[in-house]
Amino acid sequence: MTDRKPVIILTGASRGIGADVARWLGTKGACLTLTARTEKLLQKVAQEAEELGAQVLPLSVDIADRDVCRYTIRKSVEKFGHVNALINNAGILEPIDPISEVNPHAWTYNLEVNLFAPLYMIQAAIPELRKTAGRVINISSGAAANAVEGWSAYCSAKAGLTHLTRVLALEEPGITAVSVRPGVVDTAMQARIRSEGPDHMPQEKVSFFTKLWKEGMLEPSDVPARVIAWLALHAPGELSGEFLNYDDPLIAGPALSFFGEKKYVMNR
Ligand SMILES: NC(=O)c1ccc[n+]([C@@H]2O[C@H](COP(=O)([O-])OP(=O)(O)OC[C@H]3O[C@@H](n4cnc5c(N)ncnc54)[C@H](OP(=O)(O)O)[C@@H]3O)[C@@H](O)[C@H]2O)c1
Repeated sequence: MTDRKPVIILTGASRGIGADVARWLGTKGACLTLTARTEKLLQKVAQEAEELGAQVLPLSVDIADRDVCRYTIRKSVEKFGHVNALINNAGILEPIDPISEVNPHAWTYNLEVNLFAPLYMIQAAIPELRKTAGRVINISSGAAANAVEGWSAYCSAKAGLTHLTRVLALEEPGITAVSVRPGVVDTAMQARIRSEGPDHMPQEKVSFFTKLWKEGMLEPSDVPARVIAWLALHAPGELSGEFLNYDDPLIAGPALSFFGEKKYVMNR
Protein backbone atom coordinates (compact mmCIF):
# COMPACT_ATOMS: atom_id res chain seq x y z
CA MET A 1 0.00 0.00 0.00
CA THR A 2 1.22 3.48 -0.87
CA ASP A 3 -0.44 6.54 0.65
CA ARG A 4 1.36 9.57 -0.67
CA LYS A 5 3.07 8.77 -3.95
CA PRO A 6 1.11 9.28 -7.17
CA VAL A 7 -0.10 6.02 -8.68
CA ILE A 8 -0.32 5.98 -12.47
CA ILE A 9 -1.47 3.23 -14.82
CA LEU A 10 0.18 3.51 -18.23
CA THR A 11 -0.53 1.35 -21.28
CA GLY A 12 1.95 0.83 -24.11
CA ALA A 13 5.05 1.28 -21.95
CA SER A 14 7.44 -1.11 -23.70
CA ARG A 15 8.85 1.41 -26.19
CA GLY A 16 8.35 4.77 -27.89
CA ILE A 17 6.39 7.52 -26.19
CA GLY A 18 5.08 5.26 -23.39
CA ALA A 19 8.56 4.12 -22.35
CA ASP A 20 9.65 7.76 -22.02
CA VAL A 21 6.52 8.67 -20.03
CA ALA A 22 7.46 5.87 -17.60
CA ARG A 23 11.01 7.23 -17.30
CA TRP A 24 9.91 10.83 -16.69
CA LEU A 25 7.43 9.68 -14.04
CA GLY A 26 10.20 7.53 -12.55
CA THR A 27 12.25 10.67 -11.91
CA LYS A 28 9.43 11.88 -9.63
CA GLY A 29 9.22 8.65 -7.66
CA ALA A 30 5.77 7.66 -8.95
CA CYS A 31 4.18 4.25 -8.51
CA LEU A 32 3.63 2.85 -11.98
CA THR A 33 1.59 0.02 -13.41
CA LEU A 34 3.04 -0.53 -16.87
CA THR A 35 1.49 -2.67 -19.60
CA ALA A 36 2.52 -3.95 -23.05
CA ARG A 37 2.64 -7.33 -24.78
CA THR A 38 6.40 -7.65 -25.25
CA GLU A 39 7.59 -8.86 -21.86
CA LYS A 40 11.33 -8.47 -22.40
CA LEU A 41 11.08 -4.81 -23.49
CA LEU A 42 8.56 -4.05 -20.77
CA GLN A 43 10.85 -5.51 -18.07
CA LYS A 44 13.72 -3.36 -19.35
CA VAL A 45 11.64 -0.17 -19.17
CA ALA A 46 10.36 -1.20 -15.72
CA GLN A 47 13.94 -1.62 -14.52
CA GLU A 48 14.96 1.76 -15.95
CA ALA A 49 12.00 3.51 -14.32
CA GLU A 50 12.90 1.85 -11.00
CA GLU A 51 16.50 3.02 -11.29
CA LEU A 52 15.19 6.55 -11.78
CA GLY A 53 13.05 6.30 -8.64
CA ALA A 54 9.72 4.60 -9.48
CA GLN A 55 8.03 1.63 -7.91
CA VAL A 56 6.78 -0.53 -10.77
CA LEU A 57 4.22 -3.23 -11.42
CA PRO A 58 4.88 -4.52 -14.96
CA LEU A 59 2.02 -6.48 -16.55
CA SER A 60 2.72 -8.20 -19.85
CA VAL A 61 -0.77 -8.26 -21.38
CA ASP A 62 -2.71 -7.64 -24.59
CA ILE A 63 -5.20 -4.96 -23.66
CA ALA A 64 -7.59 -5.78 -26.53
CA ASP A 65 -9.75 -7.66 -24.04
CA ARG A 66 -12.15 -6.28 -21.45
CA ASP A 67 -11.21 -8.82 -18.78
CA VAL A 68 -7.52 -7.96 -19.20
CA CYS A 69 -8.29 -4.26 -18.73
CA ARG A 70 -10.27 -4.96 -15.58
CA TYR A 71 -7.47 -7.27 -14.33
CA THR A 72 -4.92 -4.49 -14.92
CA ILE A 73 -6.82 -1.98 -12.79
CA ARG A 74 -7.52 -4.58 -10.07
CA LYS A 75 -3.87 -5.69 -9.81
CA SER A 76 -2.74 -2.07 -9.67
CA VAL A 77 -5.13 -1.24 -6.81
CA GLU A 78 -4.07 -4.42 -4.97
CA LYS A 79 -0.41 -3.37 -5.18
CA PHE A 80 -0.57 0.40 -4.72
CA GLY A 81 -3.88 1.00 -2.93
CA HIS A 82 -5.27 3.80 -5.09
CA VAL A 83 -5.16 5.30 -8.60
CA ASN A 84 -4.34 8.92 -9.41
CA ALA A 85 -4.13 8.73 -13.18
CA LEU A 86 -4.70 6.46 -16.16
CA ILE A 87 -2.74 7.09 -19.37
CA ASN A 88 -4.21 5.29 -22.38
CA ASN A 89 -1.14 5.38 -24.62
CA ALA A 90 -1.01 1.92 -26.28
CA GLY A 91 -1.86 2.18 -29.94
CA ILE A 92 -1.43 0.52 -33.32
CA LEU A 93 -1.60 1.99 -36.81
CA GLU A 94 -2.34 -1.11 -38.87
CA PRO A 95 -4.21 -2.13 -40.98
CA ILE A 96 -2.87 0.26 -43.62
CA ASP A 97 -5.13 -0.33 -46.63
CA PRO A 98 -7.87 1.49 -48.51
CA ILE A 99 -11.42 0.96 -47.24
CA SER A 100 -12.27 -1.01 -50.39
CA GLU A 101 -9.68 -3.66 -49.52
CA VAL A 102 -9.12 -3.50 -45.78
CA ASN A 103 -9.43 -6.70 -43.74
CA PRO A 104 -12.43 -6.30 -41.39
CA HIS A 105 -10.81 -8.45 -38.69
CA ALA A 106 -7.70 -6.27 -38.64
CA TRP A 107 -9.98 -3.19 -38.59
CA THR A 108 -11.86 -4.56 -35.58
CA TYR A 109 -8.62 -5.37 -33.74
CA ASN A 110 -7.37 -1.82 -34.33
CA LEU A 111 -10.50 -0.43 -32.69
CA GLU A 112 -10.20 -2.92 -29.84
CA VAL A 113 -6.70 -1.66 -29.03
CA ASN A 114 -7.13 2.06 -29.82
CA LEU A 115 -10.68 2.71 -28.65
CA PHE A 116 -12.34 -0.14 -26.76
CA ALA A 117 -9.36 -0.83 -24.49
CA PRO A 118 -9.27 2.80 -23.30
CA LEU A 119 -13.03 2.59 -22.69
CA TYR A 120 -12.63 -0.63 -20.66
CA MET A 121 -9.68 0.77 -18.71
CA ILE A 122 -11.58 3.97 -17.95
CA GLN A 123 -14.71 2.09 -16.91
CA ALA A 124 -12.76 -0.11 -14.51
CA ALA A 125 -10.77 2.83 -13.13
CA ILE A 126 -13.64 5.32 -12.62
CA PRO A 127 -14.53 4.18 -9.07
CA GLU A 128 -10.88 4.66 -8.02
CA LEU A 129 -10.43 7.93 -9.94
CA ARG A 130 -13.54 9.41 -8.31
CA LYS A 131 -11.95 8.84 -4.89
CA THR A 132 -8.74 10.69 -5.79
CA ALA A 133 -10.17 13.37 -8.14
CA GLY A 134 -7.89 11.64 -10.63
CA ARG A 135 -6.98 12.11 -14.28
CA VAL A 136 -7.41 10.30 -17.59
CA ILE A 137 -4.91 11.16 -20.32
CA ASN A 138 -5.84 9.67 -23.69
CA ILE A 139 -3.14 9.68 -26.36
CA SER A 140 -4.86 10.66 -29.57
CA SER A 141 -3.40 11.82 -32.87
CA GLY A 142 -3.63 14.44 -35.58
CA ALA A 143 -5.41 11.62 -37.44
CA ALA A 144 -8.39 12.22 -35.15
CA ALA A 145 -9.03 15.44 -37.05
CA ASN A 146 -7.31 14.88 -40.40
CA ALA A 147 -8.27 12.06 -42.76
CA VAL A 148 -5.35 10.01 -44.11
CA GLU A 149 -5.81 7.60 -47.01
CA GLY A 150 -5.23 3.99 -45.91
CA TRP A 151 -5.67 4.73 -42.21
CA SER A 152 -9.47 4.33 -41.88
CA ALA A 153 -9.30 2.23 -38.71
CA TYR A 154 -6.69 4.41 -36.99
CA CYS A 155 -8.39 7.71 -37.94
CA SER A 156 -11.78 6.42 -36.80
CA ALA A 157 -10.43 5.04 -33.54
CA LYS A 158 -8.52 8.22 -32.65
CA ALA A 159 -11.51 10.45 -33.54
CA GLY A 160 -13.62 8.19 -31.31
CA LEU A 161 -11.08 8.35 -28.48
CA THR A 162 -10.94 12.14 -28.65
CA HIS A 163 -14.72 12.44 -28.52
CA LEU A 164 -14.98 9.77 -25.79
CA THR A 165 -12.71 12.03 -23.73
CA ARG A 166 -15.13 14.95 -24.14
CA VAL A 167 -18.09 12.83 -23.05
CA LEU A 168 -16.13 11.52 -20.05
CA ALA A 169 -15.30 15.09 -19.02
CA LEU A 170 -19.00 15.97 -19.01
CA GLU A 171 -20.14 12.84 -17.21
CA GLU A 172 -17.41 12.84 -14.54
CA PRO A 173 -16.85 16.43 -13.38
CA GLY A 174 -14.67 15.16 -10.52
CA ILE A 175 -12.20 13.56 -12.93
CA THR A 176 -9.96 15.54 -15.29
CA ALA A 177 -9.97 13.93 -18.74
CA VAL A 178 -7.93 15.22 -21.69
CA SER A 179 -6.77 13.88 -25.03
CA VAL A 180 -3.35 14.74 -26.42
CA ARG A 181 -1.90 14.97 -29.91
CA PRO A 182 1.78 14.00 -29.47
CA GLY A 183 3.14 15.37 -32.77
CA VAL A 184 5.01 13.35 -35.39
CA VAL A 185 7.30 11.28 -33.21
CA ASP A 186 10.38 9.18 -33.96
CA THR A 187 9.09 5.76 -32.86
CA ALA A 188 8.40 2.29 -34.25
CA MET A 189 5.03 3.57 -35.46
CA GLN A 190 6.70 6.04 -37.83
CA ALA A 191 9.12 3.30 -38.97
CA ARG A 192 6.08 1.23 -39.89
CA ILE A 193 4.70 4.04 -42.07
CA ARG A 194 8.00 4.15 -43.96
CA SER A 195 8.23 0.36 -44.40
CA GLU A 196 4.58 -0.55 -45.10
CA GLY A 197 3.25 2.74 -46.45
CA PRO A 198 4.73 2.55 -49.98
CA ASP A 199 2.55 -0.45 -50.93
CA HIS A 200 -0.64 0.77 -49.25
CA MET A 201 -0.72 4.59 -49.09
CA PRO A 202 -0.51 7.43 -51.62
CA GLN A 203 3.13 8.12 -52.50
CA GLU A 204 2.97 11.81 -51.52
CA LYS A 205 1.82 10.92 -47.98
CA VAL A 206 4.64 8.40 -47.51
CA SER A 207 7.11 10.95 -48.93
CA PHE A 208 5.90 13.55 -46.42
CA PHE A 209 6.70 11.28 -43.44
CA THR A 210 9.94 9.98 -44.99
CA LYS A 211 11.15 13.55 -45.60
CA LEU A 212 10.48 14.52 -41.98
CA TRP A 213 12.55 11.50 -40.87
CA LYS A 214 15.42 12.13 -43.30
CA GLU A 215 15.63 15.80 -42.33
CA GLY A 216 15.67 14.97 -38.61
CA MET A 217 12.31 16.70 -38.11
CA LEU A 218 10.59 13.90 -36.18
CA GLU A 219 10.08 14.79 -32.54
CA PRO A 220 12.15 12.69 -30.09
CA SER A 221 9.75 10.64 -27.97
CA ASP A 222 10.90 12.13 -24.64
CA VAL A 223 9.49 15.56 -25.66
CA PRO A 224 5.77 14.69 -25.93
CA ALA A 225 6.33 12.14 -23.14
CA ARG A 226 7.36 14.93 -20.74
CA VAL A 227 4.10 16.78 -21.39
CA ILE A 228 2.03 13.60 -21.02
CA ALA A 229 3.77 12.76 -17.73
CA TRP A 230 3.09 16.28 -16.46
CA LEU A 231 -0.57 16.07 -17.44
CA ALA A 232 -0.93 12.80 -15.51
CA LEU A 233 0.42 14.50 -12.38
CA HIS A 234 -0.91 18.04 -12.75
CA ALA A 235 -3.49 18.56 -15.53
CA PRO A 236 -5.77 21.29 -14.14
CA GLY A 237 -9.50 20.58 -14.00
CA GLU A 238 -10.36 23.48 -16.31
CA LEU A 239 -8.71 21.61 -19.20
CA SER A 240 -11.07 18.66 -18.84
CA GLY A 241 -12.54 17.61 -22.20
CA GLU A 242 -9.85 19.42 -24.24
CA PHE A 243 -7.95 17.97 -27.20
CA LEU A 244 -4.45 19.36 -26.56
CA ASN A 245 -1.40 19.72 -28.78
CA TYR A 246 1.76 18.46 -27.06
CA ASP A 247 3.54 21.76 -27.83
CA ASP A 248 0.75 24.06 -26.62
CA PRO A 249 2.65 26.51 -24.36
CA LEU A 250 -0.16 26.15 -21.81
CA ILE A 251 1.04 22.61 -21.03
CA ALA A 252 4.52 22.40 -22.58
CA GLY A 253 5.77 25.34 -20.46
CA PRO A 254 4.76 23.94 -17.06
CA ALA A 255 5.96 20.45 -18.09
CA LEU A 256 9.41 21.85 -18.93
CA SER A 257 9.59 23.81 -15.66
CA PHE A 258 8.53 20.77 -13.64
CA PHE A 259 10.82 18.13 -15.19
CA GLY A 260 13.62 20.35 -16.48
CA GLU A 261 15.21 20.76 -19.89
CA LYS A 262 17.67 17.92 -19.54
CA LYS A 263 16.62 14.39 -20.37
CA TYR A 264 16.83 12.02 -17.42
CA VAL A 265 20.20 10.35 -17.05
CA MET A 266 20.35 6.63 -16.34
CA ASN A 267 22.73 5.82 -13.49
CA ARG A 268 24.73 3.23 -15.43
N1 LIG B 1 4.65 8.16 -33.32
C1 LIG B 1 3.83 9.10 -33.78
O1 LIG B 1 4.20 9.86 -34.70
C2 LIG B 1 2.46 9.26 -33.19
C3 LIG B 1 1.67 10.31 -33.70
C4 LIG B 1 0.40 10.49 -33.18
C5 LIG B 1 -0.06 9.66 -32.17
N2 LIG B 1 0.71 8.65 -31.69
C6 LIG B 1 0.16 7.81 -30.63
O2 LIG B 1 1.04 7.73 -29.55
C7 LIG B 1 0.87 6.49 -28.85
C8 LIG B 1 2.22 5.81 -28.68
O3 LIG B 1 2.71 5.53 -29.98
P1 LIG B 1 4.26 5.30 -30.31
O4 LIG B 1 4.57 6.16 -31.45
O5 LIG B 1 5.08 5.35 -29.07
O6 LIG B 1 4.16 3.81 -30.89
P2 LIG B 1 5.00 2.49 -30.64
O7 LIG B 1 6.44 2.77 -30.50
O8 LIG B 1 4.56 1.55 -31.71
O9 LIG B 1 4.47 1.98 -29.22
C9 LIG B 1 3.17 1.50 -29.05
C10 LIG B 1 3.05 0.88 -27.67
O10 LIG B 1 1.74 0.30 -27.54
C11 LIG B 1 1.87 -1.06 -27.11
N3 LIG B 1 0.76 -1.86 -27.62
C12 LIG B 1 0.32 -1.96 -28.90
N4 LIG B 1 -0.68 -2.84 -28.98
C13 LIG B 1 -0.91 -3.30 -27.72
C14 LIG B 1 -1.81 -4.24 -27.16
N5 LIG B 1 -2.71 -4.88 -27.92
N6 LIG B 1 -1.76 -4.48 -25.83
C15 LIG B 1 -0.86 -3.84 -25.06
N7 LIG B 1 0.02 -2.93 -25.53
C16 LIG B 1 0.01 -2.68 -26.85
C17 LIG B 1 3.23 -1.50 -27.69
O11 LIG B 1 3.78 -2.56 -26.97
P3 LIG B 1 3.78 -4.10 -27.45
O12 LIG B 1 3.95 -4.11 -28.93
O13 LIG B 1 4.92 -4.66 -26.68
O14 LIG B 1 2.46 -4.62 -26.99
C18 LIG B 1 4.06 -0.24 -27.43
O15 LIG B 1 4.50 -0.19 -26.11
C19 LIG B 1 -0.12 5.68 -29.69
O16 LIG B 1 -1.41 5.76 -29.15
C20 LIG B 1 -0.06 6.36 -31.05
O17 LIG B 1 -1.27 6.19 -31.77
C21 LIG B 1 1.96 8.44 -32.19
